[in-house]
Amino acid sequence: MTMNETLSVIGCGYLGATHAACMSSLGFTVIGIDTDPEKVAMLSRGELPFYEPGLDTLLAQEMKTGRLTFTTDFSAVAEADVHFVCVGTPQSKDGLAADLTYVKSAVAAIAPYLKDGSLVVGKSTVPVGTAQSLRNQLAESAPQSDLAWNPEFLREGFAVEDTLTPNRLVVGVANDRAEEILKSVYEPIIALGTPWIRADLPTAELVKVAANSFLATKISFINAMAEVCEAAGGDVTVLAKAIGYDPRIGNRFLQAGIGFGGGCLPKDIRAFMARAEELGAKQALEFLREIDAINLRARQRVIDVVRSDLSENLSQYKIAVLGATFKPDSDDVRDSPALDIAAQLHAAGAHVVVHDPKGIEPARKRFPSLNFAESVTECVKGADLILHLTEWKEYRALDPSELGHLVKNKIIIDGRNALDRDLWRSAGWKFHALGRTD
Ligand code: UGA
Repeated sequence: MTMNETLSVIGCGYLGATHAACMSSLGFTVIGIDTDPEKVAMLSRGELPFYEPGLDTLLAQEMKTGRLTFTTDFSAVAEADVHFVCVGTPQSKDGLAADLTYVKSAVAAIAPYLKDGSLVVGKSTVPVGTAQSLRNQLAESAPQSDLAWNPEFLREGFAVEDTLTPNRLVVGVANDRAEEILKSVYEPIIALGTPWIRADLPTAELVKVAANSFLATKISFINAMAEVCEAAGGDVTVLAKAIGYDPRIGNRFLQAGIGFGGGCLPKDIRAFMARAEELGAKQALEFLREIDAINLRARQRVIDVVRSDLSENLSQYKIAVLGATFKPDSDDVRDSPALDIAAQLHAAGAHVVVHDPKGIEPARKRFPSLNFAESVTECVKGADLILHLTEWKEYRALDPSELGHLVKNKIIIDGRNALDRDLWRSAGWKFHALGRTD
C-alpha cells in the first residue's frame, strides 16, 4: 500500500475520531463514517464532540488538508482499501456481557461496498471469538475481503500521543497478507521502533482485555491495601511508594482512592468474566469479581467518612464535590466514581454541589437533579465539607487559606490522594484521605 491510498474509519466516537485524525496526519486519505448525523456535522466543521487535549487542534489541522472527511453514508467505504471498525461495545443492559450490536451492524453495513482485496480491521474491544465469527460472516457476504483485529490501548487524555507513539502495536491476523497490509499502514509508527506483535485472532482480542484486567487489578490491589492501612493505622501512599521501587511491581497505577471508572475498565472486566464463563473458564477469572467489588467499595468508603465527619443524617449539610469526570483531562463521566458518589450523597438527602473543569454538561445530562457550579468559589461557598474526587491540576493549585474563608466547616476529604495534606492542615483544615489514618 502506498500513502495515497484510502482508509475508512467506522464509528467516530472517542476511538474512531482519534484514529481518523491521526491516520490523516500520517498522510492517508481518511473517510470517517458514523450513523449520528450531528456528530458527523460537528466533525466535518472540524469541531470535536468531546474534550481531548491536542485532538481538537489535530482535527482542525487535518480537515484543512482535505484528506479527512466525515459522512453518514456507508457506501463511501467503496473508496477505501482498509476499514477500521471503531464502534462502541458497551455493557449490555441485561447483564455483564458486552453488547455487540454496533460491531455486528457496522460490519454488515460495509460488507456490500467492500472492494475486492480490502481488509476490515476491528479495533473495538470485543469478547474473544468475535473476530473469527465476523470473519466467517464476511466470508459469506464479501468473500474477496479479509478481517483482522488490531486492539487499541489509548488512554483518554493522551489519545493522540498513544495513537501516534503507542508502546506496542498488536495485530491479530489469519494470514501473511493481512499482516503486510497492516505493516504498511503503520509503517511510520513502526519506524519509530514501536514493538510489533503478530498474534492469531483470539490472542489479539485477549491481549486487550488482559491488559485492562491487569490495570484494574493493580488499582484494586492498592485500594485493598488502603482498606488494610485504615484498619491497621498505616499510610497507603507511603506503602505504594515503597513497593513501587521494586521494578517488578513498578510505581504506576498504584494511586489509591475512589477507584477506577470510565467507559473501559469496569465494563471490560465484567465482559471478560461473562465470556470466560461461556467458554467454561469461569473459575480462572473469579478474582475479577473481587477486583470489581473492591473498586465499588471504595466509593462506599468515602461516603462512610462523610457520614462520620458530619452525621448519619445528611439532610442538613451542604457538600461541595470537586470533580465529576472519571479522571482528569477528560469530559467523560461514564461510570465515574466521582459522579456516582455525588449522586449517592444527593440521594441520601445532602445538598450536593458539583464542580468540574470540563465535565459539567455531560454530568448534568446524566444526573439532571444534581446541582452544578461553574466555579470552585461558587461550589464551596457555605459548604460543610469538601470532597476532592477527580484530581484535576487546578484543584491541586487551590489555596486552602483562601478557601477557608468561603466554607462553613474546614473539612476536606481527598478521594484521590493527590492534595498536599500538610498544606491543608497548616491552613487549619481537617483533612482525610482514603488509606491514610493519621
Ligand atoms: C484505559 C486503559 O488505561 C487504556 O490502556 C485502554 O486503551 C482504555 O482503558 C480502553 O480500553 O479504551 P482510560 O479508560 O482512558 O484507559 O483510563 P485509565 O487512565 O486507565 O484510568 C481508569 C480509571 O482508573 C480512572 O478512573 C482513574 O482515575 C483510575 N485510576 C488510575 C486509579 O484510581 N488509580 C490509578 O493509579 C490509576
